[in-house]
Amino acid sequence: MKHLSFLICFFILLGACSPKKGESRDAEMDRFVNNLMKQMTLDEKTGQLNLPAAGDITTGQTESSDIASKIKEGKVGGLFNIKGVEKIREVQRLAVEESRLKIPLLFGMDVIHGYETVFPIPLGLSCSWDLQAIEQSARIAATEASADGICWTFSPMVDLCRDARWGRIAEGSGEDPFLGGEIAKAMVRGYQGDDLSLQNTIMACVKHFALYGASESGRDYNTVDMSHVRMFNEYMLPYQAAVDAGAGSIMASFNEIDGVPATANKWLLTDVLRNRWGFNGFVVSDYTGISEMIAHGIGDFKTVSARALDAGLDMDMVSEGLLTTLPESLKEGKITEDQIDAACRRILEAKYKLGLFSDPYRYCDKTRSESEIYTTEHRAIARHIAAESFVLLKNDKQTLPLKKQGTIAVIGPLADAGLNMAGTWSVAAKLDEITGLVEGLKEVAGDKARIFYAKGSNLTADAELEKNATALGRGLIRDNRPERVIIDEALQIAQRSDVIVAALGESSEMSGESSSRTDIKIPDTQQNLLKALVQTGKPVVLVLFTGRPLALVWEHENVPAILNTWFGGSETAYAIADVLFGDTNPSGKLTTSFPQNTGQVPIFYNHKNTGRPLEEGKWFQKFRSNYLDVSNEPLYPFGYGMSYTTFSYGDIQLSSTTLDPSGELTASVVVTNTGTTTGKEIVQFYIRDLVGSITRPVKELKGFEKVGLEPGESKTVTFKITPESLKFYNYDLKYDYEPGDFAVMIGANSRDVQTAQFSLK
Ligand code: NOJ
Repeated sequence: MKHLSFLICFFILLGACSPKKGESRDAEMDRFVNNLMKQMTLDEKTGQLNLPAAGDITTGQTESSDIASKIKEGKVGGLFNIKGVEKIREVQRLAVEESRLKIPLLFGMDVIHGYETVFPIPLGLSCSWDLQAIEQSARIAATEASADGICWTFSPMVDLCRDARWGRIAEGSGEDPFLGGEIAKAMVRGYQGDDLSLQNTIMACVKHFALYGASESGRDYNTVDMSHVRMFNEYMLPYQAAVDAGAGSIMASFNEIDGVPATANKWLLTDVLRNRWGFNGFVVSDYTGISEMIAHGIGDFKTVSARALDAGLDMDMVSEGLLTTLPESLKEGKITEDQIDAACRRILEAKYKLGLFSDPYRYCDKTRSESEIYTTEHRAIARHIAAESFVLLKNDKQTLPLKKQGTIAVIGPLADAGLNMAGTWSVAAKLDEITGLVEGLKEVAGDKARIFYAKGSNLTADAELEKNATALGRGLIRDNRPERVIIDEALQIAQRSDVIVAALGESSEMSGESSSRTDIKIPDTQQNLLKALVQTGKPVVLVLFTGRPLALVWEHENVPAILNTWFGGSETAYAIADVLFGDTNPSGKLTTSFPQNTGQVPIFYNHKNTGRPLEEGKWFQKFRSNYLDVSNEPLYPFGYGMSYTTFSYGDIQLSSTTLDPSGELTASVVVTNTGTTTGKEIVQFYIRDLVGSITRPVKELKGFEKVGLEPGESKTVTFKITPESLKFYNYDLKYDYEPGDFAVMIGANSRDVQTAQFSLK
């Protein structure tokens, strides 16, 4: 009987779904949604706005759980972080067979940098500067997630961040608005493709809107306070780019903006997002974002829920404020039924676009889940992309690449820690199957080299800190012997080896959510180990694991080679082996500045000049903008990264030194591989607007190209400049260009550039 009623309803829905002759897809959707909404009660409408965490449903008690009853009552619009086709099918069945209107659920997940096949953490991925590879990583993530029942990902995270203390810097694409925007678009394209209703595409959710990466003191969830000029010229660009690329949903951030939490900020969610940018998807809160506004101090549960809806928020993650309090607020006239309808409509439209009304089980195809996830092909691509994300920070006397011969000591708490390789936010990863570095090196070296291992140190001297830094179960087994004993054991192995690979840095959970740090160095006990290893006089290669820029002055001065590998995902170990042994030439470049010390933070290349800049080449001048104890320069600037080969740059050739408002000009440079190894160079193009009606940054990235060059080969790299590319938001937030002089800079990183000049008429 149950089945019969499901079939009847399903066919009614399907009938409403089928296109009428000549009807556009949007008109079809409107007709369908209008028809459905006519049948919905107020409670069913608010039900659509409710997004609980999977919670007890993941324990396998699908039928009896509290969420199950809510689903059957039509009080749930979607669920998140529930994994597996069978479980998802079971839960979807409750919605489409046992609820009155049979409306399918959305299934979301934090598919952040891959699904079971894990790619580098987003900060690492951005250092590839390879938009195709980045898009491909999102495409594979979408293929795998959709094969496992997921139709919605809480990604891309596009929060610009210039403060390495903030743990979530790991989840974004670094400090630059332009590059951040390009990556945001590539990710949205990768997830959504051209057609969301295809079985292997999923809806993107751009987050965290907005400015979450600028939290005061780098402390997570903290206040943000920023001028509108900075907001629109810098921090907003990646969100806008993702919206322009057609992202289907957006997540409101935890922080406040202009004193109002983003979750209830009408200016942000309606004036900017919908009215200015034309966003037509839906807005979801972050986890308990609505109820947290009580602690923010802007009202009780009912008030904050009504404020969120009124601001333009459509879906409530976890708080259940929209579900439980809106009917009363409606009676009190605090909100209108039209507002509830608008939010409900947007959720239904998302479901329609995903094709869930025509087939609620379209993402629950067991044959796909068995054949399209964690495949050999996906893993091979992940290995390649991981290697592209690594940044070679130092390589004295060609310490790298290593030869596959002799004896290699691999030492450090992260040397044998497969669990840590995936990095933060890898919810679906098969952590137990990820190979640790020692094993990966052994496999790649085969019988050509002998590889020894010692742990050498704990993650941190302080056991409590180590516990907090491995809180999500990616623990490193703690060695309770005295530090000296652990180091001495490692030294014995080091002494027997030709070269030492020190695998040090942060654990995967030392960055990511709720993982801010005030002292961004390699932890104390690991530094002691590194010093002891360097003292052996053997060549030492520091293989660095980190989710944020670290202050590495001592390491830079004392360790011959440093390869920053971030957290490279499921194939990290093999990718590191590929690079260490020279099978892959590293080509990544930093998308975030590495400071000399924590006190310099926030530090970023595209800063303003101030009225008292330092003179070129000086590092301290009295009454100038500088520090007494350290220069203004980062240790490694934005855009920096080495290769096993070398590149030279010719002079900049401008096609003209004047630009008309309707014209364009080009800036070209010849880049040559002057070394003996094939390599890739990321050529960067910056502009400085020399005089403006408001102050302008000393440099802004406006283009880049990653070029592959054989030894001795040269290529001309050309960048186009148009008046459009010179536009910015002025004091009145009008987006326009201003005539005047501009500097053009091209180079290998934001510090080493050559300069030419032109004027815009
Ligand atoms: C909180 C995080 O801020 C957000 O990025 C994530 O998507 C949600 N939790 C859901 O897990």
